[in-house]
Amino acid sequence: MSIVTEQNPDAAPVAKPVVLTCAQPTGRLHLGNYLGAVANWERMQDDYECYFGVVDQHAITIPKQPATLRRDTYACLAQYLAAGIDPARSHIFAQSHIHGHTELAWVLGCLCPLGQLERMTQFKDKARKQESVGAGLLYYPVLMAADILIYNANLVPVGEDQRQHMELARDLAEKFNRTYSPTFNIPEASIGVSGARIMSLQNPNAKMSKSDPDPLATIYIIDTPNEIRKKILAAVTDSGSEVRAAPEKPGITNLLSIFSAVAALPTAEIEANFAGKGYGVFKQAVADAVIARLDPVRTRYEELIHDTARLDTVFKEGAAAAQRTANRTLAKVHRKVGFVQPMGK
Ligand code: TRP
Repeated sequence: MSIVTEQNPDAAPVAKPVVLTCAQPTGRLHLGNYLGAVANWERMQDDYECYFGVVDQHAITIPKQPATLRRDTYACLAQYLAAGIDPARSHIFAQSHIHGHTELAWVLGCLCPLGQLERMTQFKDKARKQESVGAGLLYYPVLMAADILIYNANLVPVGEDQRQHMELARDLAEKFNRTYSPTFNIPEASIGVSGARIMSLQNPNAKMSKSDPDPLATIYIIDTPNEIRKKILAAVTDSGSEVRAAPEKPGITNLLSIFSAVAALPTAEIEANFAGKGYGVFKQAVADAVIARLDPVRTRYEELIHDTARLDTVFKEGAAAAQRTANRTLAKVHRKVGFVQPMGK
């Protein structure tokens, strides 16, 4: 590996705190992913040095068709860009383009107790569903720790389901620091801080999910205006006719959270605006607000998704910057572990 020469890392000014987050390349992002995650990342870009990874190496821990993986990786990037992740301000990369994540994962894995990996609830859940479990699935959380530590991230926005993996990343950072010498920040998880909890439109007691078999339950960020309106008008509501958030009115409460999040309006203000107007008028207004927010996203997505050359360039430029940081970390780690430095590097 080569150490960056144009810049002395030790002399680098103390910069903004580092945010890193990654997502597996799944096909389409839904409104819950957007409002709960991507829209928050979008807002972090000015205050933090942001790294956003599309983790294609994690994706193959469960068998995946090569053509599907390639298509989903581009689709994931195009949706991030359409949602406002900006390559001029952030480093956006494909995990497999950066040499170093898997190498750091190797070193971290040698410090990681096997039992801690075997006890991971996500491993157990996923393994149960597989006929044959690859060793990569067990190693998944170690690679995730490497994704985070290689950029010395301070803050990692993730979903609630990643809590246990984040604990492991912190444990491994501490263990490395203790075993060798202080090297890594102990990354903080930022779990669903400001994200609205968006529920299924057909069952407002369950989270909105892309694996919901009911096509009316989930709004995708690249749905057309007609699709969005149809889904919202068909949303399950509650008895009564009052537009008010209440535990016994989960359907209306969900539509209110959606409206509030997409239009950046307090719930109380929306309730006041719709006092005495009934569900029909309210639903049309929710549809208008969601369409107003998502339509520019879909339009941009459609421009980008066929422009593979443009997407490749974004990946290339993101990788160049990320690789410089990764190289510095890995060089330091290899030196501390006692690997002989390769000649001429
Ligand atoms: N495991 C994460 C998920 O499924 C994805 C991920 C991989 C990740 N590496 C990461 C998230 C590093 C945050 C930081 O959501």
